[in-house]
Amino acid sequence: MFETTRNQPEPSIIVIFGASGDLTLRKLAPALYNLARERLLPENTVITGYGRTDLTDQQFREQLKEGIRRFSRTQPLEEKVWADLGRRLFYQQGVYDDEDDHRRLHGRLKKLDDRFDTGGNRIFYMAIPPEVVEPVLHNLSGVGALRRQTPCPENQACHLRVVFEKPFGRDLESARALNDTINSMLDESQIFRMDHYLGKETVQNISVLRFANSIFEHIWHNQVVRWVRVTVAEDIGTEGRGGYFDSTGILRDILQNHVLQLLTLIAMEPPSSLAADAIRDEKAKVLRSLRRLEGDEVSRSVIRGQYGEGTVGGEAVPAYRAEKGVAPESTTETFVGLRTYIDNWRWVGVPFYLCAGKRLPAKLTEVAVQFKTVPAVLFGAMKEVNLRPNRLTMRIQPDEGVSLRFVSKVPGLALDLKTVEMDFPYGSEFPAESPEAYERLLLDVMAGHAALFARRDEVELAWEFATSILNEWERQPPPDFPNYRPGTWGPISTEDFFNETTDYSRVGNPNRP
Ligand code: BG6
Repeated sequence: MFETTRNQPEPSIIVIFGASGDLTLRKLAPALYNLARERLLPENTVITGYGRTDLTDQQFREQLKEGIRRFSRTQPLEEKVWADLGRRLFYQQGVYDDEDDHRRLHGRLKKLDDRFDTGGNRIFYMAIPPEVVEPVLHNLSGVGALRRQTPCPENQACHLRVVFEKPFGRDLESARALNDTINSMLDESQIFRMDHYLGKETVQNISVLRFANSIFEHIWHNQVVRWVRVTVAEDIGTEGRGGYFDSTGILRDILQNHVLQLLTLIAMEPPSSLAADAIRDEKAKVLRSLRRLEGDEVSRSVIRGQYGEGTVGGEAVPAYRAEKGVAPESTTETFVGLRTYIDNWRWVGVPFYLCAGKRLPAKLTEVAVQFKTVPAVLFGAMKEVNLRPNRLTMRIQPDEGVSLRFVSKVPGLALDLKTVEMDFPYGSEFPAESPEAYERLLLDVMAGHAALFARRDEVELAWEFATSILNEWERQPPPDFPNYRPGTWGPISTEDFFNETTDYSRVGNPNRP
């Protein structure tokens, strides 16, 4: 989907702030290595880590090599590829709020420009918490390392781009403030707000499925669709990130970004072209029409949960409150499910069920579009037949694929009907291993392609939606947590959840610990 990176981008120096952190080891280093392995990383690209930890270049290289050995999708590590990449890795120790440290960094980058002929091209990658992003930007600007480019050139020399990892703010106000700062120093075309879900192959395939086939668009609206469901379920808990998660919660961590991004791709109008802004205009329109849930509507249409202790897949797991870094009385939600609407011509009246949760029965991200039932004449009138409505399911991960549910006649002399699935599994059709989301996204940053990154208005509109729920939660008495057992689908039955008339605050909870 979207602009593809056909031309080899110009080499840059990629400066990773927060380079000694987990993201660099698990995601960025393996992605850069795999790009190098596929010969997609421009020759001479230099990677410079910056962080508070005191490391030599050699120690940094060893760390990254270990990260690649542990987390790369391709194994074993190819020494030849590594040798070429490793000589282009450097590390600069420094703190985030000291201008002198940034001056030293700037000086070193200039020397690396001369040595590797990178022409002053820069990609600053902010793999740091939002509270230190602003000091870093101010210091970079103070030492002359940041310059506004209007617009930032694509696939050309002399570019300066800045990548921002999530979380991008923690509510509407803080996201706006961060955007104000960033936009005061950089042109929007230089800014790449990361949501790694957009780099996933199956997420890009949503638009291909919708717009490269003629059959779906005709049935993609409220006259035919009964409801839409977006689920991001995980069986894991906080995985050593309890401190971060406890001050964040799943609404901010997953629903505000990944889930709403999936929703925009499902619901948007066909864009006028594949240019970044044409696509982002349509996505922003969806978010503008997304019905805000406010006041009492939040209790009726949003349900939150937190897991207690129990078992997942036969394994005993601790309660959320007993996880490392989590406050013993924490009221942070690890599950959120909600029902809302998109009030535009295409979707008015169609409920959208959005759900994200940890310690659910399985890791499963999918989008399901349920169509209306047929009229109760002909087969529908047959008492013994339970006609299940058609459903198109896009399985984003892990068992990637698309399936369509429909009703078929059971062979035989009697008129027996059965619901069957027509399935397209990615793995058997495309046996080659897909690139990781971060490979696609890093390559797009290098080429200046912004379609798979969130624009300012998208981020703020998504926060507007999430913040009205957060504000209402703050006004309500503390929830009665924990309220679901690990390995269940959260604090509500599936039947009650997918019911347009249910008041979520008044239903029973079959999964209470
Ligand atoms: C991250 C969240 O953005 O996405 C994590 O911070 C979550 O809490 C992760 O586990 C899920 O990503 P993926 O690619 O494994 O679905």
